[in-house]
Formats: sequence, structure tokens, C-alpha cells
Amino acid sequence: MPRLSHGRGALALLALILLLGAPSGAGEAPTDDTEVERFLRKGKIVSIEPIGTGVTRPKRVTLELDGVTLRAAFKNVDSRIDRAVLQDGTVQLAFTDSFHNERAAYLLARKLGIRMVPVTVVRSIGADRGALTIWVEDAITQKAFREKGVEPDESLAFQRDLMAVFDALIHNDDRNTGNQLITPDNRLHLIDHSRSFRNAGVLPEHFLTGRYRLTRELFESIEQLDGDEVKKLLRRHLNGKQIKALMARRDQVVTKLQVDLQNHGEEALFTDWTHLH
Ligand SMILES: Nc1ncnc2c1ncn2[C@@H]1O[C@H](COP(=O)(O)OP(=O)(O)O)[C@@H](O)[C@H]1O
Ligand SMILES: [Mg+2]
Repeated sequence: MPRLSHGRGALALLALILLLGAPSGAGEAPTDDTEVERFLRKGKIVSIEPIGTGVTRPKRVTLELDGVTLRAAFKNVDSRIDRAVLQDGTVQLAFTDSFHNERAAYLLARKLGIRMVPVTVVRSIGADRGALTIWVEDAITQKAFREKGVEPDESLAFQRDLMAVFDALIHNDDRNTGNQLITPDNRLHLIDHSRSFRNAGVLPEHFLTGRYRLTRELFESIEQLDGDEVKKLLRRHLNGKQIKALMARRDQVVTKLQVDLQNHGEEALFTDWTHLH
């Protein structure tokens, strides 16, 4: 065979590989929050499959819109129990495990300028109403990350500090290693907030005794969080008691950080890594 046709064959093969490997659809994947929300709300459901892990049995959904195909996680759990006995036997009062908390966590994160929580909307799929969260592609869980034995770099450590502050605010005691996703760019993504937003207005001891770095911008947006605005933002997802408890925790987070500032100084507390929010 002449060399030229060899080249053409190789080119054709390369084109075929690129075509098969490329994400299906000709359009561009949405990037900003409003566009991603629109995608999640309007996208045609192409397929639904069990994720295979997790207690609340979320599902992985493939959606298509304007020639773009993306995946999302769908969670329809919605229980509010006054006195819950969990699988490990512990008793929890005013326990909620609800898709509403997923949307509330996303909205609150964005209100504070935190981008680590993936875009989440509430949507009905068939008869099921639930939270639809954009899939974090190419991610591994913190569990898998730890098993690889790689030392987390400074940026990851910082993002964990932000996570701890956010979890204190939303009262998330379910931040297990499956609920922290890490992408190859060393970004931490926070998922699974369905058990957050309990009525407890007190912060856990481990948070109060820990030390966290954050940015001045984040500190100020926590400090300036306005009760009425929060109510307006979250009232479709949280009840009055949950919002009251959230604002009480906010006050305590601010007090704790102010004490740390006084004792250790701004240098020890603040970085300018707003790009890592
Ligand atoms: N948006 C997402 N992007 C990527 N992986 C996800 C996403 N949502 C869930 N997963 C995967 O599915 C697992 C179970 O989902 P999760 O929301 O944590 O459910 P559960 O409440 O049952 O723990 C997660 O640990 C993660 O591996
Ligand atoms: Mg989970």
C-alpha cells in the first residue's frame, strides 16, 4: 500500500476515535450556574440508573439539552422524623434526611460565595420529586484519595478548612469520606447534604476547638448573612426552626472566628485564595 493511503487511513481512524470519544452532542456544555440550573430543569431524561452506593440510594441520570449530554445525581429521600434511631443505634432528634436540604445547601453556599457545592435544583422525574445535582465528572472520593496514599497539598487542606466552616453552619455531621469528591485539578467538591440543617443551634465541640483558615471575603459574607434574606432564599426548603438554628450557628461561627482572629492575628487566619472557594 502506498504511504499516502497509510496516512489517510491513520487520519480516518484518528477522526473516528475522536468522534467516538467526544461527548455526544454538538453544543457547548453550560458553565455558569444559571445555565447549569436550566440544563438540570429542562434537560430531557435519557436514562436513569442506580449509582450502586449510598444509604439514600441516589440514582444517576443522563440528561440531554440543545445537543449537550450531561449526567446528574437524583435523590428523592424526604423524611422528617422527630426521634430517629439510626443504623448504628444512635438516637437523633428532629432528624431530617431530605432532598430539600440538598438544594438549601447549594443556595446557601452560593450566597456565601462558596462554589464547592455542585449546582442542585429540585425537579420531578415521573412521579418522584427530588434534588438533581450535576455530576462531578472525573472525581474520586476522599476515601479513594486517601487509599492512594497521596499527601493532600496545601490547597486541599485549605479547602477542607472551608468545608469545616460550611459544615458547622449547616450542621452537617454526615461529612464522611464518600461525601467529599476530589478532581484531578485538586479541587474539593462537597456533596450529600440531605441530612444537614438540624435544629441544633450549638456548634460541635470539635469545631470550636479546631483552627481554620479562610478568606476575609468569606468571613465577611458569613458575618453579613442577613436573617430575612436567608429566610427568603431558603423558606421553600427549610422550616422556621431550621432557619433560626442556622442563624444561631452563624452567630457562633462568627464569634469563634473573631476569638481566633484576636488570639492569632489575621495572618494566621486569612488567605487570599478566593479562587478556591
Ligand atoms: N453529583 C455527584 N457527582 C459525582 N458523584 C456523585 C454525585 N452524587 C453522588 N455521587 C456518588 O454517589 C455516592 C452516593 O451519593 P450520596 O449523595 O453520598 O448518597 P447517600 O446519601 O446515600 O450517601 C457518593 O459517595 C459519590 O460517590
Ligand atoms: Mg453520602
